[in-house]
Amino acid sequence: MTNNKEERIISTKELPDDGILDTSLRPKKIQDYVGQEKIKENLNICIEAAKKRSESLEHILLYGAPGLGKTTLAHIIAHEMNSNIRITAGPSIEKAGDLAAILTNLHENDILFIDEIHRLNKTIEEILYPAMEDSCLDIIIGKGPQARTLRLELPKFTLIGATTKASLLSAPLRDRFGIVHHLNFYENTDIQKIIERNSKILNISIDEESSISIAKRSRRTPRVANRLLKRVRDYCEVRGNGIIEGNICINAFEMLDVDTLGLDWIDRKILETIIDKFNGGPVGLNTIAAATGEDISTIEDVYEPYLMRLGFLDRSSRGRIATINAYKHLHKPLLK
Ligand SMILES: Nc1ncnc2c1ncn2[C@@H]1O[C@H](COP(=O)(O)OP(=O)(O)OP(=O)(O)O)[C@@H](O)[C@H]1O
Ligand SMILES: [Mg+2]
Repeated sequence: MTNNKEERIISTKELPDDGILDTSLRPKKIQDYVGQEKIKENLNICIEAAKKRSESLEHILLYGAPGLGKTTLAHIIAHEMNSNIRITAGPSIEKAGDLAAILTNLHENDILFIDEIHRLNKTIEEILYPAMEDSCLDIIIGKGPQARTLRLELPKFTLIGATTKASLLSAPLRDRFGIVHHLNFYENTDIQKIIERNSKILNISIDEESSISIAKRSRRTPRVANRLLKRVRDYCEVRGNGIIEGNICINAFEMLDVDTLGLDWIDRKILETIIDKFNGGPVGLNTIAAATGEDISTIEDVYEPYLMRLGFLDRSSRGRIATINAYKHLHKPLLK
């Protein structure tokens, strides 16, 4: 059992060990990208139309929770457009000059991918506006009354922005994207397909029961599915003959302390605290934080969303409430 909160095995955020796995399992073509059917259909049409007209694609905004495939999709779009992709992230563009250097180095039809685009600062954002709208860069030369603006033509490029927090994006920036897609959590059957595809790539034998059982624990997130697959494979190699099947897969999850719905000890601790110490709630977030030793913002941003998605936790004006489903899942008697 791992007690490291930063590196929870069911974390949807990228962990240091994910890098190589993420890259090797990242689908390269749109037909290998599982699920998100509406988005794929829309993109296919836009890509085909842009290619027919020999134009670059409109700017695209991809938003959705961590690990759902935004970066993957950006690479796939570049691949399908036969375009080069330049990758950067909001926090790494600190000065106006950083962005100017990136923009002036682009070539016709290149794709510029800006990850965590909600973290761009205001001044940088303003440089992006004319670049996105008119493919030009306004450079201010000199200071005070002497200052003049020089307009540089840029090649036609496509900006793909990715964010987990669309609400933090300023309206003027959001409005400049012609195509906006919200990535949803995956159906378990899609996650199962991803597991089966990736088992083949990694040369892992896995039975259907086990791919279902990994899918159920993956929080409907491909990144988590890939990580669980790898950890279960490791377990089966050491404790068995390397094949992921039946009981050995279940034993692996017992060892990893991930339950049938992908809850780990912290998730359970939060629910148990509300149920055992506060009679199921309502109880304030501050009190839960104090009683569990977790911090308020981590509970709110990291732990609660999945518990609420499962319908185990309710937020009310008087505080958090554990639902009947949470009692049932944790086998707690309903003593109210
Ligand atoms: N639709 C999909 N089909 C198959 N595999 C997928 C799909 N989406 C994501 N993956 C897998 O999940 C991994 C994580 O996806 P990705 O890095 O694209 O997520 P992200 O949305 O960019 O996350 P973050 O918000 O943390 O940047 C990928 O490396 C890929 O292997
Ligand atoms: Mg990403």
